[in-house]
Order: sequence, then structure tokens, then C-alpha cells
Amino acid sequence: MLLKFLKKPAFGLDISDYSIEAVLLRGSFEHSKLLAMGRVILEPGIVEDGKILNKKKLESALRTLVEKPKFGKMKTRKLIFALPESKSFIHIAELPKNLKEKEESEYIKYQTAQFFPFPLKELYLDYKVRKRDNLKEIILAAVPRDIVNDYLEVFKNLKLQPLCLEVESISLGRSLIDTKQPVLIADIGAKTTNFSLFVEGALRTSFAYGIAGNQFTKTLAENLGITINKAEILKKEIGLNPELKEGKVFLVLQSDIQKIIWEIRKIERYFQEKEQKEIKRVILAGGSALLPYLSEYLTQNLEKPVAIGDPWIKMNIDILEKKEYFEKALELSPILYATCIGLASRALLKNPKTAGINLIK
Ligand SMILES: Nc1ncnc2c1ncn2[C@@H]1O[C@H](COP(=O)(O)OP(=O)(O)OP(=O)(O)O)[C@@H](O)[C@H]1O
Ligand SMILES: [Mg+2]
Repeated sequence: MLLKFLKKPAFGLDISDYSIEAVLLRGSFEHSKLLAMGRVILEPGIVEDGKILNKKKLESALRTLVEKPKFGKMKTRKLIFALPESKSFIHIAELPKNLKEKEESEYIKYQTAQFFPFPLKELYLDYKVRKRDNLKEIILAAVPRDIVNDYLEVFKNLKLQPLCLEVESISLGRSLIDTKQPVLIADIGAKTTNFSLFVEGALRTSFAYGIAGNQFTKTLAENLGITINKAEILKKEIGLNPELKEGKVFLVLQSDIQKIIWEIRKIERYFQEKEQKEIKRVILAGGSALLPYLSEYLTQNLEKPVAIGDPWIKMNIDILEKKEYFEKALELSPILYATCIGLASRALLKNPKTAGINLIK
């Protein structure tokens, strides 16, 4: 008990092409306190599609973040991190009923070879077997070794100790889902929208779709004949508000959003046919979840509740360790930290290293 008390939890670190977030929590999973939180924006060309292109610059951004977060102190060198979904693979499948336990690892290798477009030796790989109803299911994740090794090198240079590498959709589920009902998370980022279906709180299936925020901006620029920078500003200011700019921005953006709606409908149909169940809610995550009026528009079109995720939902109201953090915390958009909060709360579980998929075990 004393040991547990003395052991400082790791902080969560979420790295994407555009930004890095870090969050440190303390306490138990259910009653955690926020000790530190921060975010740095990365200039283009440091990380691209999850691959590090400039180690020195990433190192310096990460050093700044760890040493001077927006508030609090990171207090530990240990971390749990996630990489962009675009670089990791996740596959969930039923195990054949007659499979013996010792045959499992062979079967898993076979599945990996089938689903992941890399030779086995080039991947970090992890899986968990779980029971659902009367069947056994594997959840399998993999990530290219060369991509991860570059991150490990950066951490080593900064004397940071990575404990776990997790897939983003799992971290998001941990921070955003508080119900057993079927829920779809739509993580609408810059390049990709990742859909993850959770049932009974567990990830059931996930896939990526190539339309997200960058495309919204591009469509706007092309249709209105304006620069990308101007389009990015209009997107964030007006979004799907039909009453501004004579509804022009709304009309143009709508075409891309309809494509996302189409994908969500496909997932709904698939789930209905396969399990005769209905998705009860859609939770929005990722930077593009902040597109003005997006949740209202989706609620109307999908005829079910759609809302931006709230990563504080599972935590204590009295979450901030110090009152003076409050003002600073209010300046942040919590959804931008959802993955990171999920990672930081894994650190509060009993054995973080083995508490879920860990690609660097
Ligand atoms: N207020 C806002 N309104 C609309 N879009 C926004 C807003 N704030 C950020 N975005 C968009 O969010 C996107 C970045 O989101 P996020 O940080 O989730 O991306 P990412 O995780 O780096 O990308 P990906 O998941 O595609 O790899 C950009 O396209 C940006 O324009
Ligand atoms: Mg993302």
C-alpha cells in the first residue's frame, strides 16, 4: 500500500502531426486529480503521418512541454504514449471455437499476416484475448517498428521512460465512454476521421476514413476561390452556421459532412444486420469536433444524440489539484486532450503495463 502511494504515476503523452499534449493525473482511476497539463503546436515538417522527420525539433518541443506545461509539474520521467491511428493497425476477430490455447499464438500470427501490410519482424505487436457472450475474441494491434523506434530514441535522449504504447482509439474510449450502451466515437482530425464502435465499454470495431478537417478547408478554398489560410479561418469562425455569410460556408462544408454521415450510416447498418443492435449515441472527438454547429447538424441528420466528448466525465468534479489552475484549465478545449487524458488514466490502473494493449511491452 505504502509502495503504491510512493509510486508516481506516469504522465500521458499524445503525439500527432500537429500537436503534442501531456497530462499528469494522480489518485485512483475513479477519483483522479489533475496535477499538470500542457500542449505544444508542432510546426509543419517535424512529424508527418506519424513519422518523425526532424528528431531534434521534436526533442526540443517535447522538452519544453515536459519542463514547462501550461500548469503544474510533470514530476515523473515515466510516460504512456499513443501514436496516430494512421500508423497503427487494429483488428478484432472472433477466435474459432475449437482453437486450443496452445494454437492461439499460431492463429494470431496468421491473422497478423492477413491483416497488416508488413512482414511480422517489422512490427511491434500485441494482443489480448477476451470473452464476449459465448465466444472468444482477439483484439490485435500492430505498429511498424521503425516508426516507434524513432520515438523511443527521442525519449531516450530526453531521459524519458516509456512504459506503454497504446492505440489512440482505446485511449479515447477510456476517457470518453461512461456507458455500456453501443456508442460510436467519431474522431475527426486533420487528415483522417477514425470511427470506433464501443459496446459494453469495449472497442468492437474501428476504421479510418480519409475525409477530415484538412479536406473541409480545401473544399472551402476551392469552392469560394479563397486561399487555404482564409478558408481555415472561415471554417473555424462560421462552420455550419447557415445564417452567416449568406449560408455559403455552410452549403460548401455540408457536402463533406454528408460524406461523414454516409459512413456513419454504413456502420449503423452493419451493426444492425450483424447484431440487431442500435448505436445510441455518437461522441465527437478530434480538433474538427470543434467545427461550429457540427454536433447540432449531426444530431438532426442522424436523429440521435451527437455531442462533443467530455474527457472529464468520469472524474471527480474537484479534479484540479490547485485552485489557481482553474482559470488556466478553462482556457483549454478539453476535447483536444481526450486521448491524452485516457493515457494518463491508464497510469492509475493497477498494472498499467499489462492493463491493455501495450505495443512496447
Ligand atoms: N475550432 C475549430 N473549428 C473547426 N476545425 C477546427 C477547430 N480547431 C481545430 N480544427 C481542425 O482540427 C484539425 C486538427 O485536429 P486534430 O488535432 O485532432 O488532428 P490530428 O490528430 O493531428 O490529425 P489526424 O487525426 O488526422 O492525424 C485541423 O484540421 C483543424 O483545422
Ligand atoms: Mg488525431
